[in-house]
Amino acid sequence: MHKTVQDIINMKKEKRKISVITSYDYTLASLCDKAGIDVLLVGDSAGMVMLGYENTISVTMDHMCMFTEAVSRARKNALLVSDLPFMSYQASIEDAMNNSGKLIKAGADAVKLEGGSIMAETISAIVDVGIPVMGHIGLQPQTTILSQGYKVQGKTKDTAMKLIQDAKELEDAGVFSIAVEMVSNEVAQIISETVSVPIIGIGSGVNCDGQVLVVQDLLGMYDKIKPKFAKRYMNLAEDIEKSLGDYKKDVESGIFPAKEHWFSMNEEELEKLREEIGS
Ligand code: KIV
Repeated sequence: MHKTVQDIINMKKEKRKISVITSYDYTLASLCDKAGIDVLLVGDSAGMVMLGYENTISVTMDHMCMFTEAVSRARKNALLVSDLPFMSYQASIEDAMNNSGKLIKAGADAVKLEGGSIMAETISAIVDVGIPVMGHIGLQPQTTILSQGYKVQGKTKDTAMKLIQDAKELEDAGVFSIAVEMVSNEVAQIISETVSVPIIGIGSGVNCDGQVLVVQDLLGMYDKIKPKFAKRYMNLAEDIEKSLGDYKKDVESGIFPAKEHWFSMNEEELEKLREEIGS
């Protein structure tokens, strides 16, 4: 049985840090799951790292359902959370509920949506029908970048107070956890100490209850944006490019394929074939 929302909530109570990683496809999701990551997040960052868009605005429900289905076929142990994409939940509570349902039917255990107190009523409605929700405050890529670009959030007393208030209202609305993006270490700590649900930080310091990274950032596969907070554990892009270059050279020089890579016909049958075609 895979992890549940309650398991993730318990981890905070037991003071165990929660590891979250984005996943969008079967192959990488299988590896993340085998590595024991607690939560696989089908983030709408898929729009950038998988589909090549400039930002997450163009991501659709169809994209998110397809990525969610692929990841759900791979996961065995982790909790699976999927993002509601831009304008799939903001226009009406009905949209939010219908689209949350679609992600659950595609294989998610919970949905994530961006927004502070303004989203509290929507979150309550989704939670009331039995769908667990992860909130997302601080930098909200679907909207913050439209007005401000990628900037650290909550740097003044008033904006920090608003973040803390947002987190409280999301907790009251029933979220099981909150992603907190690009908020100072200090403010993230206060938020984590203020609410009982786990705070999952991205670029928000070490005092969160868990951490999330985009898998392509961690593996060193995506170069377009290199956030300061995204620790690279390897430079896979370099290894992939090298291997592909080696393959090209082998094809051109005839080194590949070698005998162990091809299939041979039985000698007798081959002889008969040659006679038949007169060669
Ligand atoms: O879409 C995403 O990847 C996210 C993160 C919190 C990393 O929302």
